[in-house]
Amino acid sequence: MYLRHMNTDDHSSQSPPTRDYFATDLGKMVWGDSLTTLSSLDTSSVDLIVTSPPFALVRKKGYGNADADEYLEWFRPFAEQFARVLKDSGSLVIDIGGSWNRGTPTRSLYHFKLVVMLVEEIGLHLAQEYFWWNPSKLPTPAEWVTVRRVRVKDAVNTVWWLSKTPWPKADNRRVLQPYSEAMKTLLKNGYQPKTRPSGHAISDKFSNNNGASIPPNLIALPNTESNSYYLRYCQEQGITPHPARFPADLPEYFVRMLTDEGDLVVDPFAGSAVTGEVCERLSRRWICGELEETYLQGALGRFEARDPDGPRPSKDWYKVARPGLFWNPEGSEPPLEKDGGRQHRLRQKTSQ
Ligand SMILES: C[S@@+](CC[C@H](N)C(=O)[O-])C[C@H]1O[C@@H](n2cnc3c(N)ncnc32)[C@H](O)[C@@H]1O
Repeated sequence: MYLRHMNTDDHSSQSPPTRDYFATDLGKMVWGDSLTTLSSLDTSSVDLIVTSPPFALVRKKGYGNADADEYLEWFRPFAEQFARVLKDSGSLVIDIGGSWNRGTPTRSLYHFKLVVMLVEEIGLHLAQEYFWWNPSKLPTPAEWVTVRRVRVKDAVNTVWWLSKTPWPKADNRRVLQPYSEAMKTLLKNGYQPKTRPSGHAISDKFSNNNGASIPPNLIALPNTESNSYYLRYCQEQGITPHPARFPADLPEYFVRMLTDEGDLVVDPFAGSAVTGEVCERLSRRWICGELEETYLQGALGRFEARDPDGPRPSKDWYKVARPGLFWNPEGSEPPLEKDGGRQHRLRQKTSQ
């Protein structure tokens, strides 16, 4: 049995105190600053922190490193708590999108600086970097991508998988994928053991059919949730859905690979509590912290209006085109703009 909704009427949403908002037998949503919530947890008590922190904190006020440094200042106390509450076998998984510097087609370093800080200052280990490719991402920022055509679509988030020790518990057999058609053909036709040009010796074990393949550190996952019970619930209740949700399969991937049933999972920037919903379904204990009450109001729908059959896993595959399919014949490329597109607008205006 779950569904215990705490009465919050006596609190102003101006400055919400940290308090339990909703609970099940396995987990709870906590309303308030997650720094306080984390501080109240026991040392070495958490198996996995999986979260997507606010990216928008990168203030649009200057160029270069200032934004990134402010972000680190803000993040540091959370990082210290993460390192304290994690078990030695525990992991921290941070989904974080990159950001553009204002006014130029250049990128902030903030998410790279974050991972350097987490390793070099906080003492965590980078278990592996993942890239979450969202095939449905729009080509933005339009000015650089579709107008001046000097950058390409930014369609991956980095997902930093860190750990308290170099040996977090993990098993890639929990996240296996079907073989590609190319691999199926290779398994059918057999593979000649040989040394590749890279120097890797491929043994005959390579052609063993294990029934599934080990995934790469690229997660192909669209972020298109248009008809879920969460959205229906928000609509019925007149609640604006959270504007920056991640798809449930993203936390689910790491919950499956890095935790066992009964383990404790924390999402300190929980938004609409996708992580809580995943943990509830997979019988993990969970804590979801969120500052804004309105997001938690919507998140209630994930538990109260939950589809008893659970989500239907998508069978979609994505193909990524190899570079070169549209390359011009040699010598027939249009010339590049020598100033990197800087005067693009001006040139367009004067040529009209
Ligand atoms: C990118 S969103 C997370 C969205 C979430 N993954 C989902 O799918 O719904 C980040 C969230 O962190 C929350 N947040 C920011 N600072 C916080 C803090 N100090 N304590 C708790 N939540 C915070 C924001 O209100 C926002 O909802």
